[in-house]
Amino acid sequence: MAEQRDKWATKIGLILAMAGNAIGLGNFWRFPYQAAKNGGGAFMIPYFAALFLLGIPIMWVEWVEGRYGGKYGHGTLGPTFYLMSRESLKPRTALIFGIIGGMLAFSVTTLLNSYYLHIIGWSAAYTYFSATGAYFGKDSVQFLINYLGNTGQVLLFWGISVALLGVAVGQGVSKGIERWVKVMMPLLYVAAILLVLRSLTLGSPVKPEWSAIKGFEFLWEPRLSEVTWQSALAAAGQIFFTLSLGMGIIQNYASYLGPEDDVALSGLATVSLNEFAEVILGGSIAIPIAFAYLGQEGVKAGVGLAYIALPNVFMNMPAGQFFGAVWFLLLWFAGFTSAIAMYNYLTALLEEDLKISRKTGAIFVFILYLILGLPVALDPTKATLDLYYLTELDNWVGSYLLVILGFFDIIVAVWLFKPENFWEELHKGAYIKVPEWVMILIKYIAPAYTFILLFFTTKSYIESGYFKAVPSYVAKPEFANWVWLARGMMLFILIIGAVEAYMAIKKKYGEELEK
Ligand code: PHE
Ligand code: NA
Repeated sequence: MAEQRDKWATKIGLILAMAGNAIGLGNFWRFPYQAAKNGGGAFMIPYFAALFLLGIPIMWVEWVEGRYGGKYGHGTLGPTFYLMSRESLKPRTALIFGIIGGMLAFSVTTLLNSYYLHIIGWSAAYTYFSATGAYFGKDSVQFLINYLGNTGQVLLFWGISVALLGVAVGQGVSKGIERWVKVMMPLLYVAAILLVLRSLTLGSPVKPEWSAIKGFEFLWEPRLSEVTWQSALAAAGQIFFTLSLGMGIIQNYASYLGPEDDVALSGLATVSLNEFAEVILGGSIAIPIAFAYLGQEGVKAGVGLAYIALPNVFMNMPAGQFFGAVWFLLLWFAGFTSAIAMYNYLTALLEEDLKISRKTGAIFVFILYLILGLPVALDPTKATLDLYYLTELDNWVGSYLLVILGFFDIIVAVWLFKPENFWEELHKGAYIKVPEWVMILIKYIAPAYTFILLFFTTKSYIESGYFKAVPSYVAKPEFANWVWLARGMMLFILIIGAVEAYMAIKKKYGEELEK
């Protein structure tokens, strides 16, 4: 078999790495504005439903896939899906599933990170701007526009962040990633707790009825009658995003386990840590703070909540420079420890399929992300904060490809691999026994739910005009070419991903494919 694979050195390192993988900008930036936009308490009902019906089952599925692939020396989905599907399919048919899995995971880790890394870069910049009070007393919208317009500065903060990721990944899994997360994750918790304490003690200087507590009420009052299809879709999408499902990166991290290492309890621990960081910590920072200063309309600021609404608050808050810096540093840590998993996926792919050494591979990936990130930084629609290129990528990759890959996760690791094998793998070396009835969730409910989700997302994409040559959100058709650039990029990356998966499987399992 292949040379000795790197392994997690300690259990705590593994758990922190997985928590770092899942806990990201999704928890502190995306969750609050999704919840606010979709009705607060009305959003939380489908959110918890999706957590139990989709999130936990698919998390287990991905841990099982990852450890299984790792046993054969694979940390990528192409060969892993191939091996699992082969359990019930002829090699040549199994190859198709291998190609689908490899293609999707490659595309997500390449494209999603290409814009996510920019948001990490903004966070680095805003940490600095908060500490120095640079945006204090200024209009926050204009400040963000000016910042994005200063391409040199954008490239600097972004480049430093990507370079640091490259250093960590280049050092390896146990000697690099594991060591970095052991420092960063505790700091992340400290930062988050500081901010929660700040928000809990915040009254409104503007109107007494806007206190932070009102923000909590808005998020926690379950208003069943206000649940809409739209909010249910958004909630399920958020569960995928926040748990890092349908990306290939949970599998990649789990591939560095030993074949007898627990996955059942560890998978559950990943979900719990992420959800604590999301609903308890994430839900207690941006929304209540924004609510206290800006009222209910203020928390609906959408994407801009983190980078526009909150700076507005910090500049009026006692010790605002400090708390502002802590907030953006928190975002930076959260983003960094997630992006590192995407970065590692691609580095592992070069290492395993092309035999490129980890150090060299990390440099290649650095260059790749720099090139793919350029359109995000150069997109002229940043001048109005429309960011067409980023938006188009996010609509498809960040909310759609994930769900497709999640669907194939279950088809491959449960159905094609066979349910009894899956159950056995899940319990191999397990610290807990998963109750029998959960298998019903995993076999039927989760895939059906995912399928329905895909169906309705497609429907709502058609209705809201995302399939049109010039999608409906494009108010300035003269910039539609940036949308087309994003689409071209997606097509190109999907093709490369498919070809790569095909070649990787062929190279290693060519003989059985001949038969
Ligand atoms: N789970 C991550 C989050 O909540 C999602 C993610 C992972 C995004 C890796 C980008 C890169 O932010
Ligand atoms: Na998350």
